[in-house]
Amino acid sequence: MIDSNRLSNGRNDFLAGVWNFFPNRIRLILIGISYLCVALSCLGSAQLSADDIQAGKRKAEVACQTCHGIDGLTTMAMVPNLSGQREDYTIIQLEAYRSGKRQHSQMSIIAQSLSDQDIRNLAAWYASIQISVTLPDQ
Ligand code: HEC
Repeated sequence: MIDSNRLSNGRNDFLAGVWNFFPNRIRLILIGISYLCVALSCLGSAQLSADDIQAGKRKAEVACQTCHGIDGLTTMAMVPNLSGQREDYTIIQLEAYRSGKRQHSQMSIIAQSLSDQDIRNLAAWYASIQISVTLPDQ
């Protein structure tokens, strides 16, 4: 719960004041609603369209497979795996290579040729690959 003694600045005093205004039952409902919102936004980003995935696969076959593998698993030491990566993460990285915010001798050039739609499709393709993880015995 929010500890109003710990919150010293004006904005937090205001937030703590608003929070303390609600009775406990309403606070529980508010917490429930915020969890629901987080869950729904996760669901939203997990819904990959089949068309995007297929278009992404076709693009990956010609533009990415050599280094990242069509399954997103690479055999090269300096190339990261992409399979199962979160769609939004891949989009952000490809946009960053394209804009110059993130620089790499190969990826910066490759990203130049990708449209917004290509980026969404490729991210959908690599995110749609199911991966499983096994922790070591100890
Ligand atoms: C010539 C080899 C090569 C090709 C082809 C290639 N990549 Fe890469 N990719 C790399 C390397 C090397 C890196 C690591 C770059 C770095 O350190 O920033 C990388 C990094 C990335 C990353 C960042 C991953 C992370 O974990 O942050 C993404 C996303 C990515 N590539 C997507 C693609 C996509 C999509 C394509 C096809 C359009 C593609 N790459 C084609 C070599 C390649």
